[in-house]
Amino acid sequence: MNPENYSIVMRGVGSATPETRLTNAELTARVETSDEWITTRTGIKERRIAGDSLQLSEIAAEAGRKALANAGMQPEEIDMIIVATLSPETLCPSTACLVQSRLGLRQVPAYDINVACSGWLYGLDIARSMMLVNPTYRNVLVIGAEKLSSFTDWQDRQTCILFGDAAGATVLSRIDEPGYGVLGCDLGADGNNASLIHIPAGGSGKPATAETVAAREHFLRMNGKEVFKVAVKAMSQAAQSILEKNGATADDLVCIIPHQANIRIIEALSARLEISMDRFFVNIQKYGNTSAASIPLGLDEARIERNFKRGDLILLVAFGAGLTWAASVVRWY
Ligand SMILES: CC(C)(COP(=O)(O)OP(=O)(O)OC[C@H]1O[C@@H](n2cnc3c(N)ncnc32)[C@H](O)[C@@H]1OP(=O)(O)O)[C@@H](O)C(=O)NCCC(=O)NCCS
Repeated sequence: MNPENYSIVMRGVGSATPETRLTNAELTARVETSDEWITTRTGIKERRIAGDSLQLSEIAAEAGRKALANAGMQPEEIDMIIVATLSPETLCPSTACLVQSRLGLRQVPAYDINVACSGWLYGLDIARSMMLVNPTYRNVLVIGAEKLSSFTDWQDRQTCILFGDAAGATVLSRIDEPGYGVLGCDLGADGNNASLIHIPAGGSGKPATAETVAAREHFLRMNGKEVFKVAVKAMSQAAQSILEKNGATADDLVCIIPHQANIRIIEALSARLEISMDRFFVNIQKYGNTSAASIPLGLDEARIERNFKRGDLILLVAFGAGLTWAASVVRWY
């Protein structure tokens, strides 16, 4: 098949968030902080928390169900499922297999990818690349889902204010009309900076012991200041590069959906790209940083709030642990 004859479009988008809200005011009972500090330094007012009874695969499946409904499709039409997550329900098997079962998909390929906050965009590019060369993959479900509250150190005020739980999903479909949907993706990583955001224990390198648990090494650790600087640089470079590769400029963009990590990172990106803030979609105040779920959750809300129309050009850009980054331009179908 000739990839140039086809487009990979977002036929359906959906998202799901736990009902329980954790406000900044409630956080002040756990760590020494204030609503004023969190709001001015991050833009976050509250985040959603799944709690013990709501599993990651349930949130992910709910987002997937909504994306299928939005696409007007049945589960048996899906040819592959990819779940991007850094907080899998179990290390083995993959969360994608659990979601596959919950949604009643056929026995199609199902797998997780762990690219932290850039994960859903990596999934988008993997799916698109496979769909353009292999006729088997006509409709692919790409989900970004996180239960970060399970990996958050609720005694660490630098990180516990930032993260939340959520899922976002997209049904990608191949159509024989070129020029629409995911026009391209630009992915990158820098493993030399792996230690800037990491979970020290619980993997094969440092398996769980009573000592690692006591030392709180199963929680996410981060060098916030350093991450901030690299995030702005990597996201602006990825955004510029993908625009150039597609012969587009900032003026062509109807909306930019950036990874929601910190409002100040988004503002710095806006300044670097010389694109006014009103074209950036922001929902960080409601959900905090939901890592791999951040972009598809933003996409689901933005397409409704901003009333996306056929032909609108949208930029998606993310940054995360690894370090990793990713950007994509989408012509709405
Ligand atoms: C984490 C982050 C919000 C911290 O903001 P910051 O402006 O860099 O703040 P600093 O770390 O310089 O801390 C400033 C002061 O506030 C304090 N502080 C840190 N967290 C605080 C909190 N929750 N409440 C009150 N004070 C806090 C610090 O201890 C420090 O005090 P000191 O000056 O007495 O030492 C910010 O660095 C950030 O968002 N980084 C990027 C993180 C990120 O995006 N990670 C995910 C990437 S996908």
